[in-house]
Amino acid sequence: MGEGLFIVLEGIDGSGKSSLAASMADRLSPRREVILTAEPSDGWVGDAVRRASAEEGAPLLEALLFVADRAHHTERVSRWLAEGKTVICDRYYASTLAYQSAALGDGMMGWLRELNDKVVIRPDLTLLLDIDPAVGMDRVNGRGAASKFEELEYLKRVRDAYLRVAEEDGFKLIDASLPEEEALAQAMKAVEGVTEMI
Ligand code: TYD
Repeated sequence: MGEGLFIVLEGIDGSGKSSLAASMADRLSPRREVILTAEPSDGWVGDAVRRASAEEGAPLLEALLFVADRAHHTERVSRWLAEGKTVICDRYYASTLAYQSAALGDGMMGWLRELNDKVVIRPDLTLLLDIDPAVGMDRVNGRGAASKFEELEYLKRVRDAYLRVAEEDGFKLIDASLPEEEALAQAMKAVEGVTEMI
Protein backbone atom coordinates (compact mmCIF):
# COMPACT_ATOMS: atom_id res chain seq x y z
CA MET A 1 0.00 0.00 0.00
CA GLY A 2 1.34 3.42 -0.97
CA GLU A 3 0.96 6.82 0.55
CA GLY A 4 -2.44 8.41 0.18
CA LEU A 5 -2.85 12.03 -0.83
CA PHE A 6 -5.60 14.22 0.59
CA ILE A 7 -6.54 17.28 -1.49
CA VAL A 8 -9.35 19.66 -0.53
CA LEU A 9 -11.05 22.31 -2.65
CA GLU A 10 -12.73 25.25 -0.98
CA GLY A 11 -14.53 28.35 -2.19
CA ILE A 12 -17.85 30.15 -2.23
CA ASP A 13 -20.71 28.96 -4.42
CA GLY A 14 -19.93 29.69 -8.06
CA SER A 15 -16.15 29.53 -7.62
CA GLY A 16 -15.93 26.49 -9.90
CA LYS A 17 -14.75 23.93 -7.30
CA SER A 18 -16.75 21.01 -8.59
CA SER A 19 -15.59 21.27 -12.19
CA LEU A 20 -11.99 21.88 -11.11
CA ALA A 21 -12.18 18.80 -8.86
CA ALA A 22 -13.39 16.70 -11.82
CA SER A 23 -10.64 18.04 -14.11
CA MET A 24 -7.99 17.37 -11.47
CA ALA A 25 -9.28 13.81 -11.05
CA ASP A 26 -9.00 13.32 -14.84
CA ARG A 27 -5.42 14.56 -14.86
CA LEU A 28 -4.34 12.49 -11.85
CA SER A 29 -6.15 9.24 -12.57
CA PRO A 30 -3.67 7.77 -15.07
CA ARG A 31 -1.02 7.79 -12.32
CA ARG A 32 -3.11 7.45 -9.16
CA GLU A 33 -6.28 5.83 -7.90
CA VAL A 34 -8.48 8.87 -7.35
CA ILE A 35 -11.59 9.16 -5.19
CA LEU A 36 -13.74 12.22 -5.81
CA THR A 37 -15.86 13.03 -2.78
CA ALA A 38 -17.68 16.00 -1.24
CA GLU A 39 -19.25 17.51 1.86
CA PRO A 40 -22.09 17.59 2.72
CA SER A 41 -21.48 13.88 2.16
CA ASP A 42 -23.65 11.29 0.43
CA GLY A 43 -24.02 9.43 3.74
CA TRP A 44 -27.02 9.50 6.07
CA VAL A 45 -25.67 12.38 8.17
CA GLY A 46 -25.22 14.30 4.90
CA ASP A 47 -28.93 13.71 4.25
CA ALA A 48 -29.69 15.18 7.68
CA VAL A 49 -27.58 18.23 6.81
CA ARG A 50 -29.55 18.80 3.62
CA ARG A 51 -32.80 18.39 5.53
CA ALA A 52 -31.73 20.94 8.16
CA SER A 53 -30.61 23.39 5.45
CA ALA A 54 -34.02 23.16 3.82
CA GLU A 55 -35.65 24.18 7.11
CA GLU A 56 -34.33 27.69 7.45
CA GLY A 57 -33.64 29.34 10.78
CA ALA A 58 -31.61 26.70 12.61
CA PRO A 59 -28.01 27.88 12.08
CA LEU A 60 -26.60 26.28 15.24
CA LEU A 61 -28.19 22.92 14.44
CA GLU A 62 -26.78 23.16 10.90
CA ALA A 63 -23.28 23.91 12.22
CA LEU A 64 -23.38 20.87 14.49
CA LEU A 65 -24.69 18.66 11.70
CA PHE A 66 -22.01 19.81 9.23
CA VAL A 67 -19.39 18.77 11.80
CA ALA A 68 -21.17 15.49 12.59
CA ASP A 69 -21.29 14.71 8.87
CA ARG A 70 -17.58 15.51 8.68
CA ALA A 71 -16.80 13.09 11.52
CA HIS A 72 -18.69 10.36 9.68
CA HIS A 73 -17.18 11.17 6.27
CA THR A 74 -13.63 11.48 7.66
CA GLU A 75 -13.77 7.82 8.70
CA ARG A 76 -14.25 6.90 5.03
CA VAL A 77 -11.56 9.37 3.90
CA SER A 78 -9.10 7.84 6.39
CA ARG A 79 -9.76 4.38 5.00
CA TRP A 80 -9.19 5.52 1.41
CA LEU A 81 -5.95 7.22 2.41
CA ALA A 82 -4.78 4.11 4.25
CA GLU A 83 -5.38 2.19 1.01
CA GLY A 84 -3.01 4.60 -0.74
CA LYS A 85 -5.71 6.42 -2.69
CA THR A 86 -5.74 10.06 -3.72
CA VAL A 87 -8.81 11.72 -2.22
CA ILE A 88 -10.13 14.95 -3.74
CA CYS A 89 -12.75 16.44 -1.44
CA ASP A 90 -15.07 19.26 -2.51
CA ARG A 91 -15.34 21.24 0.79
CA TYR A 92 -14.00 20.29 4.23
CA TYR A 93 -13.59 21.98 7.63
CA ALA A 94 -12.86 25.46 6.21
CA SER A 95 -16.40 25.51 4.75
CA THR A 96 -17.80 25.33 8.28
CA LEU A 97 -15.34 27.94 9.59
CA ALA A 98 -16.21 30.33 6.74
CA TYR A 99 -19.97 29.79 6.25
CA GLN A 100 -20.99 29.16 9.86
CA SER A 101 -18.90 32.00 11.29
CA ALA A 102 -20.58 34.24 8.71
CA ALA A 103 -23.99 32.91 9.82
CA LEU A 104 -23.45 32.75 13.59
CA GLY A 105 -21.05 35.66 14.07
CA ASP A 106 -17.28 36.05 14.03
CA GLY A 107 -17.13 35.39 17.77
CA MET A 108 -18.04 31.74 17.09
CA MET A 109 -14.94 31.10 14.99
CA GLY A 110 -12.90 29.78 17.95
CA TRP A 111 -15.64 27.34 18.95
CA LEU A 112 -16.09 26.15 15.37
CA ARG A 113 -12.35 25.54 15.12
CA GLU A 114 -12.24 23.59 18.36
CA LEU A 115 -15.15 21.43 17.27
CA ASN A 116 -13.57 20.71 13.89
CA ASP A 117 -10.13 20.01 15.35
CA LYS A 118 -11.63 17.00 17.09
CA VAL A 119 -12.85 15.37 13.87
CA VAL A 120 -10.62 16.36 10.96
CA ILE A 121 -7.43 15.01 9.52
CA ARG A 122 -4.97 17.49 8.01
CA PRO A 123 -5.25 17.70 4.23
CA ASP A 124 -1.94 17.52 2.35
CA LEU A 125 -3.15 20.44 0.26
CA THR A 126 -6.12 22.81 0.39
CA LEU A 127 -6.87 25.00 -2.62
CA LEU A 128 -9.05 28.05 -2.02
CA LEU A 129 -10.75 29.20 -5.21
CA ASP A 130 -11.16 32.85 -4.52
CA ILE A 131 -13.76 34.91 -6.37
CA ASP A 132 -15.73 38.13 -5.97
CA PRO A 133 -19.08 36.98 -4.51
CA ALA A 134 -21.02 39.11 -7.03
CA VAL A 135 -19.34 37.21 -9.89
CA GLY A 136 -19.91 33.86 -8.13
CA MET A 137 -23.62 34.58 -7.61
CA ASP A 138 -24.11 35.60 -11.23
CA ARG A 139 -22.36 32.40 -12.36
CA VAL A 140 -24.67 30.22 -10.26
CA ASN A 141 -27.99 31.96 -10.77
CA GLY A 142 -27.58 33.94 -13.97
CA ARG A 143 -26.81 37.59 -14.59
CA GLY A 144 -28.32 40.01 -12.13
CA ALA A 145 -28.48 37.47 -9.30
CA ALA A 146 -25.94 39.46 -7.29
CA SER A 147 -28.56 42.13 -6.80
CA LYS A 148 -29.99 39.94 -4.00
CA PHE A 149 -28.45 42.18 -1.38
CA GLU A 150 -28.72 39.90 1.69
CA GLU A 151 -27.15 36.90 0.03
CA LEU A 152 -24.37 39.01 -1.43
CA GLU A 153 -23.56 40.52 1.97
CA TYR A 154 -23.52 37.02 3.50
CA LEU A 155 -21.17 35.67 0.81
CA LYS A 156 -18.84 38.64 1.29
CA ARG A 157 -18.51 37.68 4.96
CA VAL A 158 -17.94 34.03 3.95
CA ARG A 159 -15.18 35.09 1.55
CA ASP A 160 -13.48 37.29 4.18
CA ALA A 161 -13.55 34.41 6.68
CA TYR A 162 -12.17 32.02 4.05
CA LEU A 163 -9.27 34.36 3.34
CA ARG A 164 -8.43 34.59 7.05
CA VAL A 165 -8.52 30.81 7.49
CA ALA A 166 -6.44 30.40 4.30
CA GLU A 167 -3.73 32.57 5.73
CA GLU A 168 -3.74 30.87 9.14
CA ASP A 169 -3.73 27.35 7.70
CA GLY A 170 -1.49 27.87 4.68
CA PHE A 171 -3.98 27.22 1.88
CA LYS A 172 -2.98 27.77 -1.74
CA LEU A 173 -5.06 30.58 -3.26
CA ILE A 174 -6.27 30.31 -6.83
CA ASP A 175 -7.87 33.23 -8.62
CA ALA A 176 -11.16 31.65 -9.70
CA SER A 177 -11.88 34.41 -12.23
CA LEU A 178 -9.09 33.00 -14.40
CA PRO A 179 -9.99 30.80 -17.40
CA GLU A 180 -10.59 27.21 -16.27
CA GLU A 181 -7.45 25.88 -18.00
CA GLU A 182 -5.29 28.39 -16.16
CA ALA A 183 -6.86 27.56 -12.77
CA LEU A 184 -6.29 23.86 -13.51
CA ALA A 185 -2.63 24.49 -14.40
CA GLN A 186 -2.13 26.30 -11.08
CA ALA A 187 -3.88 23.56 -9.15
CA MET A 188 -1.76 20.83 -10.77
CA LYS A 189 1.41 22.76 -10.03
CA ALA A 190 0.40 22.93 -6.36
CA VAL A 191 -0.28 19.17 -6.34
CA GLU A 192 3.17 18.50 -7.83
CA GLY A 193 4.65 20.72 -5.12
CA VAL A 194 3.19 18.60 -2.30
CA THR A 195 3.82 15.22 -3.94
CA GLU A 196 7.52 16.13 -4.18
CA MET A 197 7.53 16.79 -0.45
CA ILE A 198 5.87 13.53 0.64
P1 TYD B 1 -22.49 22.24 -1.78
O1 TYD B 1 -23.24 20.97 -1.97
O2 TYD B 1 -21.01 22.25 -1.95
O3 TYD B 1 -23.14 23.32 -2.73
P2 TYD B 1 -22.54 23.91 -4.06
O4 TYD B 1 -22.31 22.74 -4.97
O5 TYD B 1 -23.65 24.81 -4.50
O6 TYD B 1 -21.28 24.64 -3.69
O7 TYD B 1 -22.81 22.84 -0.37
C1 TYD B 1 -24.12 23.20 -0.08
C2 TYD B 1 -24.11 24.45 0.77
O8 TYD B 1 -23.68 24.10 2.10
C3 TYD B 1 -23.18 25.53 0.26
O9 TYD B 1 -23.89 26.75 0.18
C4 TYD B 1 -22.14 25.65 1.34
C5 TYD B 1 -22.80 25.09 2.57
N1 TYD B 1 -21.89 24.51 3.58
C6 TYD B 1 -21.77 25.11 4.81
O10 TYD B 1 -22.40 26.15 5.08
N2 TYD B 1 -20.94 24.56 5.75
C7 TYD B 1 -20.23 23.42 5.52
O11 TYD B 1 -19.49 22.96 6.41
C8 TYD B 1 -20.37 22.79 4.23
C9 TYD B 1 -19.62 21.52 3.95
C10 TYD B 1 -21.21 23.36 3.29
